[in-house]
This record gives sequence, structure tokens and C-alpha cells, in this order.
Amino acid sequence: MGFVNQNIKPFNTKINNKGNVEISGCDLVELAQKYSTPLYVMDKVTLEKMALDYKQAFSSYKNTRMMYASKALMTSAIALIFYKLGFGFDVVSLGEMYILKNAGVSFSHATFNGNNKGKDELEYALQNGIARVSVDNFYELEILNEIAKQKGMVQKILLRVTPGIECHTHEYIKTGQLDSKFGFDLNMVDDAICFIQSKYKNLELKGLHAHIGSQIFETQVFEDEIQVLLKEIRRIKDKFNIELNEINIGGGLGVTYVESDCPPDVYKIADIIIEAIKKYCKLYELDEPVLYIEPGRSLVATAGFTLYTIGSSKDIKGIRKYVSVDGGMSDNPRPSMYSAEYFAEIVNRKDEYNPKKVTVAGKFCESGDILIKDIELNSPEAGDILCVYDTGAYCYSMSSNYNGVLKPAMVLINNGKSDIIVKRQTLEQLVQNDVIV
Ligand code: LLP
Repeated sequence: MGFVNQNIKPFNTKINNKGNVEISGCDLVELAQKYSTPLYVMDKVTLEKMALDYKQAFSSYKNTRMMYASKALMTSAIALIFYKLGFGFDVVSLGEMYILKNAGVSFSHATFNGNNKGKDELEYALQNGIARVSVDNFYELEILNEIAKQKGMVQKILLRVTPGIECHTHEYIKTGQLDSKFGFDLNMVDDAICFIQSKYKNLELKGLHAHIGSQIFETQVFEDEIQVLLKEIRRIKDKFNIELNEINIGGGLGVTYVESDCPPDVYKIADIIIEAIKKYCKLYELDEPVLYIEPGRSLVATAGFTLYTIGSSKDIKGIRKYVSVDGGMSDNPRPSMYSAEYFAEIVNRKDEYNPKKVTVAGKFCESGDILIKDIELNSPEAGDILCVYDTGAYCYSMSSNYNGVLKPAMVLINNGKSDIIVKRQTLEQLVQNDVIV
């Protein structure tokens, strides 16, 4: 058992009497037969457990607002699950907002983030009553003020700042360091506030926002981030005589993809964050602010897995054996983009074990389309079902139609029940926007 983000597999994973892996009462081989592969699966029990742990972990800090970072995985059904659990949302595009709306979720607890929001996107956000816009740069201050003015309203905003904190994660998913495309450098904040006070009368500044990176295992960086934000709020209070009482610290908590990953559990990270807020509010003589947190990966990664069927294989004697599956970099681009590692197993024939070291390749026309390098699988054969774990975050949301391959379906499982929540794409849909001239 243990904490969700410290597990590789979803809760209630076992081997059943047919010798197959079963999760939340669903036989994975039967799921593959019923819905075909590749197939994304989300286990509702594991997802809800993580969401409730987050709420519980932060419950001693009453002013916490949980905002699910939609970019990790956004579908209408997933949006509704988080909404019912009392989560708000971090959204970054018209599309993510549209999915929220499609799910019937109000924007009254949503923050709009992003470094180059379009006018149409800002219009849509304001039209639908977005709770906060986290303004990223001077250009956005100007266009957002104009849009709010045209609508005769005052929009509540945060300023996204770059706190100058380095965390040890992949280069492409670091965001808090000075050399970043996101947010105002701390030395730009005064100008931004001067503009808001003097000419952007349709914007109301409520607080500061930062996000230092993703798949983080360290704890000190969160404490450092909170210190930077609260110190800045103190400085702003002294200089401008305004007290900002909201901080949004972004997301970033890591998960366990492979055994060597060791993220802190959510209760530990919550204690560190809450302690840091108390400590620095005392030090800088500030009231304790409203705390927004925006977890994405840690809420959904472990609840998700992908089922593939094994097809061809190639044994290069003395070098490597490749086994290929019916998906790959279009349904999970993370190994090829970030050298991300995953754990997998064959879910049928669990009653025998004859380990073979292989490399799991996708079916795409690229040598880099490798899902897992060097993993021991139970003597893989064509027709076996392979489960790759921890694919709930940043797989479906980053999927593509590369090589004209259709996007897989997604199924939600819950105590023996399974329901399609995203249908498999069809060939007709693949060409529906094509125009022949
Ligand atoms: N808030 C902001 C402003 C963010 O930019 C992000 C992630 C989050 C929250 C959520 O972070 P999380 O809790 O998921 O770490 N595609 C990459 C991850 C990119 C993350 C971008 N921002 C990957 O597959 O690893």
C-alpha cells in the first residue's frame, strides 16, 4: 500500500485465479479484449485516494485552494471527477477551458496560466467568469486590462514571477530558474505594480504565482519558493502599501515511475509547505495568505496505465532483443522527449515466470521510439498484453497522430466496472479537417 505517489502500480493490483493481473476488480486481459489496444486506463479508486490525501494533507491550513493542473490529463469525465471532489482547475488554453465547460464545470475556481495567452482565450476566460488570471508579462497586462475594460469589469489577477530557484529535474520541465520563458523576473515586479496602479484600472492584483518545475523529489525547493514569494510580498507592502494575500506555488510533486524514484509523500510535502508559510509569515510579519497549489502529475500519474499488445520482435544476438507493441511515441511521447523511464509487465501468464531482458519498442518510424530500454519481461510472445504503469499524466494530453496512428480510447475502471471515457479515434476523424483542392 503506502502513499499513492510512492507506488508504481494503482491500488488493488493483484493476480487473479486466471493468472492475469487484475486492478480494481478488472482483469486487464479482459479489458484489452473488450476495448482493444492500445488502451489508456484510469483507476478511479487510486485517483480519488490521491485527491483525498491531498485534501487531508493540507486540511490543517484552512486557506488552501486545490487547483488540479489540467495539462496533466484533461477529459470531460476527469474534469467532473475533480470538480465533484472540490478541486478548482489550472487551465492554460481555450481548449482546456472548453473541456471544463463541456463537463458543466464553472470557472469560479479556475486560474488561467500561460506565457502567451491569446486575446480570444482571455476573452473567453473573462466571459465565463474565470476566478484568477495569472498574468505572465507586460504585454498581457495591457491586453487583459483592455479586455476587462471593454467588458466593464475588474479582473482579479496574480503576477507570475520567476523565483530564481533551480530544481533537479529534466531541463525541459524546469521553470523556476532565472533563464525561463515564464513570468516576471523579480526585478520587473515593481514596474508591473506601478502600471497596475497607474493605468490598468480594470485589474486587481491579489497575489503572486510561481511554479518551479515538475517531477520534483527535493523538499527544500518548495520552502525556498515560499520564502521568495513571502519576502516579495513583504517588500511590495513596504514599497507600495498594498498587502497581497494570495500565493500560488504551482505544482511539481514527483511520482514513482521506476523503483529508483523516491518522491516525498504528499503529507510530508504539505507539512513542509505549511510550516514554511507559518515560519516566513512570522519572520516578515505578514498575515497568513490564501495558498493555491496546482498539482497535476501526482494526482493522476499512478492511477493510469496503458495496455498494449505485443507483436513483432527482433533478436540481435549478443546485443539486444526488441519487442514491439501496437503503440508508442504517439500515445506516450515522454520516453523520447525526456528520456522518461517506465515500469511494465506482461499481464497474462502470471502463473509462470521466465524472465527475458528486452527493449520495448513502439511501432513508429523512428529509432527513438523506444518505450522502455532493458527491462525484464516474462518471455514475451506475440499476442501477450503488456501493461505500462504510471501513464496517467502527460501521455493522453501529449498524444498525437504521428504516422497517422489513431489516438487510443480511455477507460475508467472502478471496483469491477469499466466505462469508456474517451472513445477511440476513428479513421473518419483523422481526415475530417482535410480539404482536397
Ligand atoms: N502549474 C503550472 C503553472 C505548471 O506549469 C505546471 C506544469 C503545473 C502546475 C503542474 O505540474 P505537475 O504537478 O504536473 O508537476 N510534459 C512534462 C511536464 C510539464 C509540466 C508543465 N507544467 C512531462 O511530461 O514531464
